[in-house]
Amino acid sequence: MRIYQAKDYNEMSRKAANIISAQIIMKPDAVLGLATGSTPIGTYKQLIDWYNKGDLDFADIRSVNLDEYKGLPADNDQSYAYFMRNNLFDHVNIKKENTYIPNGLETDTELECSRYNHIIRSLGGIDLQLLGIGNNGHIGFNEPGEAFEKETHCVKLTENTIQANARFFENIDYVPKYAYSTGIKNIMQAKSILLVASGKSKADALYKALFGPITPAVPASILQLHNNVSIVADEDALSLIKENQCI
Ligand code: PGA
Repeated sequence: MRIYQAKDYNEMSRKAANIISAQIIMKPDAVLGLATGSTPIGTYKQLIDWYNKGDLDFADIRSVNLDEYKGLPADNDQSYAYFMRNNLFDHVNIKKENTYIPNGLETDTELECSRYNHIIRSLGGIDLQLLGIGNNGHIGFNEPGEAFEKETHCVKLTENTIQANARFFENIDYVPKYAYSTGIKNIMQAKSILLVASGKSKADALYKALFGPITPAVPASILQLHNNVSIVADEDALSLIKENQCI
């Protein structure tokens, strides 16, 4: 595991975008596992900037997103499909038919999960999986306690996650209670993983994930067992790790 330190959010975003750029340049038809949430927004902005300067080409890139709220249509402005269009897809030359996100409107859970697993497999697996981390240590919507061996599944969101995401909704009652998420197994099968973290609210989760015991209680701790993980985090997110002199 490599830990890249950044002084702040902007530097974190630039360093993370550099790693994604390298992947795109080395393999122009790479399969990118993409993430939503506030942390990767700056990374996407930087990629868009380099695309506009002519340094990046997304024409043959394929993408698979980690998760989607169950019950939200793709045109709802809180859906992750909307987020991806708004923050990346509409601003680069990726082909929309090469971008995959779970279908939040599919009510047949089993059907949707097996359809999504099949997509990931048929693309040949994920080359680079981008991840944020929840302040409870979740990755994707794999909440504490989830079995490590799960593939795409329907998740009942924890109260902690509902509260953390309420800021994006009119009020907390509008936050969906369920989501489709790729599982830890899908994430661990990616050839490489890039986790981004920023801010003091992530310090505890990041410390436990990288230097604590490997346990389903901290889903991100499984990343210690992956052989190609890069962490890009700012000083605030790394504060506990530094305080404990782990790096
Ligand atoms: P955030 O979410 O980037 O909005 O903090 C990260 C996550 O929950 O995975």
